[in-house]
Amino acid sequence: MTKDSITIFAPASVSNVGPGFDILGFALEGMGDTITLSRRDGAAYIIDPVGVELPEDPEKNVATVALRSFCNAVGYDGGFLIRIEKNFTPGSGLGSSASSAVGAVFAANELLEAGYSREELITYALDGEMLASGNRHADNVAPCMLGGFVAVRSCDPFKGFQIAYPKALKVLIIFPDVPIQTADARGILPREVSMNQAIKQSANMAGLINGLVTANYRMIRESLHDELAQPYRKKLIPNYDAVEKLCHQHEAVGFNISGSGPAMFAFFQVDNDLTVLKEEIKGLYQTKGIACRFHESGINGRGVEVLN
Ligand code: HSE
Repeated sequence: MTKDSITIFAPASVSNVGPGFDILGFALEGMGDTITLSRRDGAAYIIDPVGVELPEDPEKNVATVALRSFCNAVGYDGGFLIRIEKNFTPGSGLGSSASSAVGAVFAANELLEAGYSREELITYALDGEMLASGNRHADNVAPCMLGGFVAVRSCDPFKGFQIAYPKALKVLIIFPDVPIQTADARGILPREVSMNQAIKQSANMAGLINGLVTANYRMIRESLHDELAQPYRKKLIPNYDAVEKLCHQHEAVGFNISGSGPAMFAFFQVDNDLTVLKEEIKGLYQTKGIACRFHESGINGRGVEVLN
């Protein structure tokens, strides 16, 4: 029987992951968008944000822009009510726009029984991502859609691959409450890089993939460096160097900026108790009057999924 409504969960994600600027990301457990997409009479898209402020003009909302692009492709001109509930803050560097865009097209594909593969849906989700950041990069969209770590070789059409990772790896997200817009964080980056930077970046990307696949924590830590964005963007994040130092003192398996920031992420082994570390980081921000939140979770290997 054809359904009138569907609810899905689209996870938040960490993109760039050190040397993978614009081409590498992974999905998070326990953080993301819960989206209910319902058919409605007429042709209009109505947006119902729950507990979060989002643009309600369908031309300016990443979810409905992606949804429109997908519906144009499948030739569906009916209306929808789209209820978007987020348990994290948009603009934090955790792929909020990707979660909404992926969630909308995935839900529509299920509801309309259109039969597209997850890889095929990425193109339409990227139309939403494009609205948010002014650029077609799939390093949040692809892991949100597919789950786990995903490396992107091209966006249109999507070509990429999932990377195996140690199951004993967990992530700490550190989110200081300072605003950074992705478009601004892209605007400060130089247009060109040197041969030396390109070589270092490639070497670190190769090292990171090898470290993930072989569960070599030392190689992951030593490879988790970025030549292209982090040196410029870290200046936008208060206490960046101090937070990195604290994470390493607590045996982090690598540390860097999550996406365009201000969130940062650090890998740890699952049995590492991070209570003291979190108190120490919180203290750093308290002295500057900045609120700081944390999210500690495993890596989401499933990607976007149907709830009911
Ligand atoms: N790769 C992107 C960037 C992710 O760093 O600008 C943020 O959308």
